[in-house]
Amino acid sequence: MSDTQPGNIENVLQEDRRFPPPAEFKPRVSFKTNAEYEAAWNRAKDDPAGFWGELAKENLEWFEPFTSVMSGDMPETKWFEGGKINASVQCLDRHLEKNANKAAIIWEGEPGDTRVLRYQDLHREVCKFANVLKRLGIETGDRVTIYMPMVPELVIAMLACARIGATHSIIFAGFSAEAVADRNNDAQAKLVITADAGWRRGKEVPLKAAVDESLEKSPSVEKVVVYQRTGADVTMVPDRDYWWHELMENESTDCEAVALDSEHPLFILYTSGSTGKPKGVLHTTAGYMLGTTMTTRWTFDLSDEDTYWCTADIGWITGHSYIVYGPLSNGATSVMYEGAPNWPDEGRFWELVEKYQVSIFYTAPTAIRAFMKWGDQWPGKADLSSLRLLGTVGEPINPEAWMWYHEVIGGERCPIVDTWWQTETGGIMLTPVPGVTETKPGSCTKPLPGVVPAIFDEQGNALEINQGGLLVMTQPWPHMLRTLYGDHDRFVETYFSKFEGIYFAGDGARTDEDGYYWILGRVDDVLNVSGHRLSTMEVESALVAHEAVAEAAVVGFPHDLKGEGICCFVTLKSGEPNAEMKKELTAHVRKQIGAIATPDQIRFAPALPKTRSGKIMRRLLRDIAAGRETAGDTTTLEDSNILAALRKNDDS
Ligand code: WT7
Repeated sequence: MSDTQPGNIENVLQEDRRFPPPAEFKPRVSFKTNAEYEAAWNRAKDDPAGFWGELAKENLEWFEPFTSVMSGDMPETKWFEGGKINASVQCLDRHLEKNANKAAIIWEGEPGDTRVLRYQDLHREVCKFANVLKRLGIETGDRVTIYMPMVPELVIAMLACARIGATHSIIFAGFSAEAVADRNNDAQAKLVITADAGWRRGKEVPLKAAVDESLEKSPSVEKVVVYQRTGADVTMVPDRDYWWHELMENESTDCEAVALDSEHPLFILYTSGSTGKPKGVLHTTAGYMLGTTMTTRWTFDLSDEDTYWCTADIGWITGHSYIVYGPLSNGATSVMYEGAPNWPDEGRFWELVEKYQVSIFYTAPTAIRAFMKWGDQWPGKADLSSLRLLGTVGEPINPEAWMWYHEVIGGERCPIVDTWWQTETGGIMLTPVPGVTETKPGSCTKPLPGVVPAIFDEQGNALEINQGGLLVMTQPWPHMLRTLYGDHDRFVETYFSKFEGIYFAGDGARTDEDGYYWILGRVDDVLNVSGHRLSTMEVESALVAHEAVAEAAVVGFPHDLKGEGICCFVTLKSGEPNAEMKKELTAHVRKQIGAIATPDQIRFAPALPKTRSGKIMRRLLRDIAAGRETAGDTTTLEDSNILAALRKNDDS
């Protein structure tokens, strides 16, 4: 198509494959039929207060009932006012009567050590640690930073904060001391909970040392609790630093959960904005708990019989919502793994699936592309027949990766839920309902009940099918962010100023003739080539569809004739990175998409620059493509050697 109306994004990716729900997949606790899903969706759209109010009564435990379901327009909508509630009660106490002996967390450390925490174990540890927090002077409303490896104590620390109404701010353990100091200061955290070190590919990551450095610049922090994980040498400052195990030794196991207002801040989670300092996304208690509880059930069909594994780190929203709050609120059994997927070898994940008989597996496209690159022999060594459902999140999944996931991991029998959401949305927004929604590789399909999206042009006009535009949400939902911590103006400006009273997600998307959503990537990842707006993701998908390509990232650069030229960074899985290959890939993209998308530069690299959460750092690639010095922060980069390699490779 050649619609060049401003605000529109060209849509050039053609994908005709369809996968009807596999007959052998029988939904256990999610919607059983498409009609059931549609009835719920329509009800939620027409009567959101009735819909969410009923669910909140049925699915959450209240100390005091709410008096109003929702009030106020976006962005100031408040949920379940008048109600008193506690998130740790949803996740723990309410399961003790029937499921005290059920495994809540099956944990495996990177070195191969294992632990199982039943619901009663987790409850006991959380109560004890909540008492520790109180003893250290932490009160309802205080902010607590958690900077820990993927150990059960991280979950215990979170839920202990929730139990007394302290707001947790988790910082991914791969971040630097600098990042910890910034976040401590922004949140004015009083306490930091950390570990001596964590394990990563057999090496120790010194966490306490980073905290020590951060505290030179974050004066609000009064005390530090240190969990001993690796036995690394650390410096303990008297009257400031305390060992977890010493504090817990004689602590009482009784700790009543505090009855908190529905809108009490449960946590802050920092996420990067396109400019400036990170944004402290704030989520509150009742709405977030309802959202994560219901979306876990609807999306993952997570039942009592399942063993569920979300491979995310709890330092990201995926781990908050779909390792901790959603699954535990549903009384589920989760696998939690501490380490890297390729340690001691590339088969580790698949061994774990077999060992624990995982039935639901949730990971990210970047991981799936790595698995593809490592080769089918690794999953081939394990028995993956326990799997019944697969999920993906974090970025658009290119159809080739979707097909590989479907065939090699899912044995063509598991539905794939491609879940679109954001730190800000708190929970899954667009996704297939497993066993019910027909899927198309690369599409996150349909909105869940309570989610009413639209595609707008720059002027706020709703676009027709197959017109790429801006993804917005026209109705509030209970688990949406409430503010950016300490900067309500930035919150309103970032999400609600483009279209008044409407949530602007910052992503481009289109719908197709079946009403399915196709995410085109962040709008700042959009190219304008000769007046045509192209999604970088579609060019990437075309490249990755070539048999020699493992991964690709596409960015624009200033171009005299076209406005923006197309620069492709490519890692190969086979073949030589030479001029011949460049020609071949250029021809391939032209053929797949058309002349408009002809790459101007192709640069080969052994790897792409990524953040520790696996997101490609396009800002850096844009600088390299334009031949500029890299400006700004590169502290979140996973491997800084990659930049030098990419710069050298400038012979195109
Ligand atoms: C951005 C949000 C939500 C947890 C992890 C990321 C992209 C996320 C998908 C998907 C296409 C996706 C979007 C979104 N994204 N899931 N299924 N298909 N794109 O959280 O760091 O807040 O990033 O990730 O661009 O806006 P986040």
